[in-house]
Amino acid sequence: MGHLPRPRGPISEGIISALSGGALPSAGVTDPFGEDLQLSLYVCYELHYQGFSGVDSGWEWDPDLLRLRLDLERVFLGALRDGVPGGDDVEAAIDELMTDAPGGVSHFLEDKGELWHLREYVAHRSIYHQKEADPHAWVIPRLTGQAKASVVAVEFDEYGGGQGSAMHSALFCDLMRGLDLDDSYLAWLDDVPAPMLAVVNLMSMFGLHRSLRGALVGHFAAAEITSSPSAARMTRALDRLGVEETVFFTEHVEADAVHEQVMRRDVIGDLLRREPELTADVVFGLQATDLVEGRFAAHLLGAWDAGRTSLREAADAR
Ligand SMILES: [Fe+2]
Ligand SMILES: [Fe+2]
Repeated sequence: MGHLPRPRGPISEGIISALSGGALPSAGVTDPFGEDLQLSLYVCYELHYQGFSGVDSGWEWDPDLLRLRLDLERVFLGALRDGVPGGDDVEAAIDELMTDAPGGVSHFLEDKGELWHLREYVAHRSIYHQKEADPHAWVIPRLTGQAKASVVAVEFDEYGGGQGSAMHSALFCDLMRGLDLDDSYLAWLDDVPAPMLAVVNLMSMFGLHRSLRGALVGHFAAAEITSSPSAARMTRALDRLGVEETVFFTEHVEADAVHEQVMRRDVIGDLLRREPELTADVVFGLQATDLVEGRFAAHLLGAWDAGRTSLREAADAR
């Protein structure tokens, strides 16, 4: 369970104070990728995961909060749909992800990253990897046949093949401790800016809506497809920086080479044979993942190129 974060604008302030006993705000028009909307969504979604200490778990299904969340989701979803090319060519959307052009965050870390860059990157990603695989688990009851069975097979690996200490979320916490970073749940939430919040909010939104199950499958596939080469670069970055706790990334080099194939052939392939009308949603999920990850990478590299921290408050990560 995490601690409630500090607000970043009027909506997140209203939600956070409502969770502590105040009245809920109305959404109003707001920047779809801005701090206030992204933190508000993150807080709303967290109620469906482990929640916050001191917040009544009944808030998860509070109708007024859900109505407000829906207003925020419409703004975010609309911006995502406007921000991607769309279409119904799944293979082309996958090919687009596989063009491994240099210039990404893992390339930076492999080539010239310093320890503080790596620690910041890990602090950012902790708000996802501490709940790794959880948003994708929500799609299981919404699938049938081979697609369902294959998602479960991938998730079985993500959850450590039945071994708690081998769950990818646990391996990530091992990495955090190896970098001398606080690995308690959501310890870095206040420090993580909107571009990283959006990466997690995308998967939470896709996971929680049955109507977006095609997009969730596209998102899951995009994550698995891009993971193995990027994890290989991260392994080399850790080696170069003398970090010994490398299991999180070495595990992903191996596992995600297989998961990619399973996602393409057995999950997307089988899903679209059964429900071909979901094709455009799968493409949307692939492209929207690329969009939010691209915005996150641009934020990090922009800050680092300027010699600045990419976190909101960097004191502990540097
Ligand atoms: Fe994983
Ligand atoms: Fe995986």
